[in-house]
Amino acid sequence: MNPIKVALLGCGTVGSEIARLLDHHGEDLAARIGAPVELTGIAVRRPDRHREVRADLLTADAAGLVASDVDIVVEVIGGIEPARTLLLDSLRANKSVVTANKALLAEHGADLYAAADASGADLYFEAAVAGAIPLVRPLRESLAGDRITRVMGIVNGTTNYILSEMDSTGAGYAETLEEASRLGYAEADPTADVDGYDAASKAAILASIAFHTRVTASDVHREGISSVTPSDIAAARALGCTIKLLAICERVGEPGEEHVSVRVHPAMLSKSHPLASVGGAFNAVFVQADAAGQLMFYGQGAGGAPTASAVLGDLVAVARNRVAGGRGPRESAYAALPVRPIGKV
Ligand code: HSE
Repeated sequence: MNPIKVALLGCGTVGSEIARLLDHHGEDLAARIGAPVELTGIAVRRPDRHREVRADLLTADAAGLVASDVDIVVEVIGGIEPARTLLLDSLRANKSVVTANKALLAEHGADLYAAADASGADLYFEAAVAGAIPLVRPLRESLAGDRITRVMGIVNGTTNYILSEMDSTGAGYAETLEEASRLGYAEADPTADVDGYDAASKAAILASIAFHTRVTASDVHREGISSVTPSDIAAARALGCTIKLLAICERVGEPGEEHVSVRVHPAMLSKSHPLASVGGAFNAVFVQADAAGQLMFYGQGAGGAPTASAVLGDLVAVARNRVAGGRGPRESAYAALPVRPIGKV
């Protein structure tokens, strides 16, 4: 069997873990896929700075790597450009794409889906939302025969760590954020986390696939946690509640007049609610569907190894599709439900 050739774009915490796992588990993965997987190159900005991977794989020419003879492009560089151009070029050339890039999917998901559908390539993105937690595939595939009405959860680990710590220690926002940075949870610039942009991107992706419509990050009502004070948390506690930053995606309105509401904001949750006990940097998401009822997904939403696990799961899926001559879910059958930021709660 001819090998499945893979190009890796990016070699940070997640990328280097993907390269390591491909190397260590190559034989197992080949058995699961039905063909060997060959990592043919890793595109990075500075090849001289990556001693953790084989030097002969490294290149600074990402466009050249994507245009070379590869079947699958795995993108973990993040941000809009050059990722957008590289992935559109890949999909147009019928190369399947696995990406962890939430910002790109939340802004330009529609263009990527259209390029994938036009060429017949796969576009998989489990790692873009909630790290290791299988959530995208269940929404796109396992629940494809159901009617999802609500997706609600904690999708940002940094803010969950901060709010959980403020609740258990009584400490203030600024000092807890400092602690989150020291522990490596918050990014060097934590704005995307604490102001809700990261959660809004993830909510846009989840709402798009759950409701078969197109939601971008700018459609999402967004409020971060920087104004949550210890007295807010104490007041919530006195009422038997805790404060969590929630992403809430809902199908609202009567049949025929339905629309989609997507919002991210701090919310008071009763301590008896299952999401209230989700502490530290963990993520958890509730899904409500007509036939399936309530489902809950819980686990590590960030970090090199958990995110690499999700990427490799996608890699195996798209490689199997290549071997079988098939493809994964298409996204062209959109219901085009209107999106309104705040709906009936
Ligand atoms: N900064 C993100 C978080 C990383 O804290 O959840 C995962 O997307």
